Amino acid sequence: MSDRAVTLGQFVLQQERMHPEASGQFTSLLLDVALAAKMINKAVIRAGLVDVLGATGTTNVQGEKVQKLDVFAHETIMRVLGSTGQLAVIASEEDEDIVQVTDGMPIGRYVVNFDPLDGSSNIDANVNIGTIFSILPRLTRTGRGTHEDVLQAGRRQLCAGYVLYGSSTMLVYTTGDGVHGFTYEPSIGEFLLSHPNIKTPKRGRIYSANEGNYAHWSEGVKRYVDWLKCDDAETGRPYSARYVGSLVADFHRNLLYGGIYMYPGDKKNPNGKLRLLYEAAPLAFVAEQAGGAASDGTRRIMDLAPAALHQRTPLFIGSPENVAEAQSFVQEKHAGVTSDRRTR
Ligand code: AHG
Ligand code: MN
Ligand code: MN
Repeated sequence: MSDRAVTLGQFVLQQERMHPEASGQFTSLLLDVALAAKMINKAVIRAGLVDVLGATGTTNVQGEKVQKLDVFAHETIMRVLGSTGQLAVIASEEDEDIVQVTDGMPIGRYVVNFDPLDGSSNIDANVNIGTIFSILPRLTRTGRGTHEDVLQAGRRQLCAGYVLYGSSTMLVYTTGDGVHGFTYEPSIGEFLLSHPNIKTPKRGRIYSANEGNYAHWSEGVKRYVDWLKCDDAETGRPYSARYVGSLVADFHRNLLYGGIYMYPGDKKNPNGKLRLLYEAAPLAFVAEQAGGAASDGTRRIMDLAPAALHQRTPLFIGSPENVAEAQSFVQEKHAGVTSDRRTR
């Protein structure tokens, strides 16, 4: 990369010129997502001050109602994207149903599914949180968008990515032409290209899972995690456990360093916890574009056809060799370690 600073806007225009066949119309949608991200970032970095500043009443210094950050993030994205004229319909984790374009507003050709604030249990502890987004072409031809437009398999995505609010805020996305990461420079209000063409290692030595759920996991998942802790020179085991509890943060670290993130199904929740449309599918697109993989244990996440808006799916995502191993354990094709070496 040259020393010249490249903004997200410049980069996106450059990509458009190189690939004119990929009608760059959703380019401005991506820039709108970045605008919403800047607004959410501003609220995130002041999150700890909300109680201080809002202590005297229910309004903050700007005279606005103090809101929970995930509601604020949802409304910000709705406000920014809802008025662009590019969308037919939007779906968000924070809305039970799809949100159609309001009457009288222009109707566009795209669909956006998003998780406005991911990792919200970490907000009050000042731990990394994120936003996840997925852009699809609409399926229906006329009128306002419908459920059919929203419920599309991940492989139909035109663009997907996430924003990670943290020690520095980053936006990472793919349009099917590699994965590119931008770091926010607050003094000029721009996302600058910092991680062009991210490639994830073929194998990593980090695993990320909520092991508190161990007792409820299937035998295959238990065996896999036990196996990760055994000594083995060839695969470099035992691996390190790293778990933030914000999918975006765990995914991003593993994307750069290599490894696997998993949220399997268990006896209580056979489909796990994570949502297919606005958590698993967009991150699967990013993972694959970086040379990684994403599976529900047997099937490729990108091939899953969603039947409901908030449908959950088990998720194994990260370096391709790690994900393939996890699959062979989940499918009980790998015996793993013998019972006397099991952790429990
Ligand atoms: P959200 O905050 O959008 O509801 O998502 C929370 C998700 C995800 O970010 C994280 O990986 C997972 O929940 C953590 O779940 P556990 O607390 O069960 O580990
Ligand atoms: Mn989430
Ligand atoms: Mn959320």
